[in-house]
Amino acid sequence: MNSIYLCKAGDVPENGVIQVTPPGFDDGIAVYRLEDGFYATDDMCTHALVSLSGGEVEDGVIFCPLHGGAFDIRTGAATEFPCTRALKTYAVEERDGSLFARAD
Ligand code: FES
Repeated sequence: MNSIYLCKAGDVPENGVIQVTPPGFDDGIAVYRLEDGFYATDDMCTHALVSLSGGEVEDGVIFCPLHGGAFDIRTGAATEFPCTRALKTYAVEERDGSLFARAD
């Protein structure tokens, strides 16, 4: 199992999201800070080619900035039309103030 460095925990605003681009992830990963911890998903919306990290986080959901579709950040499930395909999610670990995604 590999660990991929994402960013410093302090880089991610509360109830917010940032985009990071680790080596090998051309489309980027969206890193979120929710009340119960850190989460990561693919940054590219599954509806069209738009970065979700430009959208709004609300109650554990990321709203796409283009058409208003949405995904559950914790599970990746599509929750609002026109999004119908789930986002890939990554388990996040915090170690010494840094965040890592687990890539199995
Ligand atoms: S591109 Fe995200 S909802 Fe259309």
